[in-house]
Order: sequence, then C-alpha cells, then structure tokens
Amino acid sequence: MSTASDSVPRHIAIVMDGNGRWASKRFMPRIAGHRQGVDVLKRTVRTCVLRGVRVLTVFAFSSENWKRPPDEVSALMDILVVALSRELNQLKKEGVHLRFIGSRKGLSERVQQSLLEAERETAENITLTLNVCFNYGGRWDIANAAQTLSAAGEAITEESLSRHLSTCADGDPDLIVRTGGEMRLSNFLLWQAAYSELFFSEVLWPDFDEAALDKAIAAYASRERRFGMTSAQLPGARNIAS
Ligand code: IPE
Ligand code: IPE
Ligand code: MG
Repeated sequence: MSTASDSVPRHIAIVMDGNGRWASKRFMPRIAGHRQGVDVLKRTVRTCVLRGVRVLTVFAFSSENWKRPPDEVSALMDILVVALSRELNQLKKEGVHLRFIGSRKGLSERVQQSLLEAERETAENITLTLNVCFNYGGRWDIANAAQTLSAAGEAITEESLSRHLSTCADGDPDLIVRTGGEMRLSNFLLWQAAYSELFFSEVLWPDFDEAALDKAIAAYASRERRFGMTSAQLPGARNIAS
C-alpha cells in the first residue's frame, strides 16, 4: 500500500524512445526528433525537481546504437556536445548534478572533454542527480563491475557487484518508464531493474510532456511493492489475522 511519502518515486529511470518515429511522421529527418528530445529532457528535469524526485537516470545512447548509420551516430554526438554547452548554466542554477554513465571508450576527445566539464561544473549540486546513460549497456555495467572485483581479488557477491555498478551511489530505480510503445529494456539497467516498477507509454519521447510524466508517477503510486513478501507483511498493512 502506498503512503503519501512513497507516492513519488525517489529515483526514476527513462528509456527515451521514439525520436525517429516522431520525426518520420512529420517527414523530417530522424535527427530533428533527437533535437526535439533534448527540449523534452530539459522540461522533464524541471518537472522532476518540482515533484520531489531526487534522481533521474535517462538512456540517451546505448552500446548497440553504434550500429546506426554513421551520420546519425555523429549527429547524436554533436547534439550532446551542443546541448551541454547551451544548457550547462541553467542546469547549474537549477541545482542539477550531472553524471555520465557508460563506457568512455569509442567517444571522441571532444565528447569526453564536454562530459568531464559538465560533471565537474555541477559536482556540488544536490537538488537532483541527472544520470545520462551514454554509450551504456546493462551487460557492460555488470561485466565492468565483475572485472573490477576480480582485478582487486575481491569475492563476487550480489552485494559487492551492486557496489561496483555505475549507479551504486543512487540506488536502484523505483520506476522505469519507456516511451515510444516498445515493451523491452534494450539492455538498460538490467541488474538494477530487479524490483523496479515498469511503466510503458505509447507517447513518443518528443511528445512526452508533464501530463505524461504525471501519469507514470500516478501509476507508480497505485502499485504495491512487495519485494517477495505478502501484502499483510508490508508496513501499514492492516492486521486481519485474529
Ligand atoms: C531514441 O529514439 C533515441 C536513441 C536511441 C538515440 P529512436 O532514435 O530509437 O527513435 P525510434 O525508436 O527509431 O522512433
Ligand atoms: C533504446 O532505444 C536506447 C535508447 C533510448 C538510447 P533503441 O531504439 O535503441 O532500442 P531498440 O533497438 O528498439 O531495442
Ligand atoms: Mg528506438
């Protein structure tokens, strides 16, 4: 049973999908959808701050997205660098702490520098942590944690692996939203999703507005998170046993 305090997820993760289809429907190049998607992310960050969400983790570029046509891949890199240089001051003012999660391998020097600068410039902010998963895959995350542990000669346990995942500082997402109508994780936060509530929206990411986000949050508030227990065992449950 949800109480007022847990009706808003502390950590929301979003697979921002549907940019290409949004653009194609308008006879525009796919990249126009990605550009529109950046504006939607800005507004989503603001809404999350207003709703009291503490961590927002978004999937911006997957390990598998390298398979896209090279001009789309390079446009996505450019959009990231331009968006960061345009938006950094505003994000700083809003108290957003930016972190980039994923492999830096394969990213150009220019992209890597812009990620590092954004992380450095916002490191002191505490209102909301925005994790941008870029060149990220859930399998990469798990393999990376296992390699770190094995290099250090540490035992691989559920607890030690969790501590070495890229999101370890933020805890697992309470709610994972995927826009764009597909019902799959596409290699997003595989380990961390173990007990996340899932919400799939038909809305394409460039159309994902405040009302659409509130719908996901409302769905979350109506769920009962049992973590393997029974309803009667949950805090606040009425004791109906005599
Ligand atoms: C998500 O939108 C953004 C990225 C994967 C970079 P898509 O580009 O996958 O859009 P659709 O799914 O083709 O509509
Ligand atoms: C997932 O979307 C990755 C991002 C949103 C960045 P994709 O569009 O790449 O996923 P698939 O290929 O449909 O599974
Ligand atoms: Mg897609």
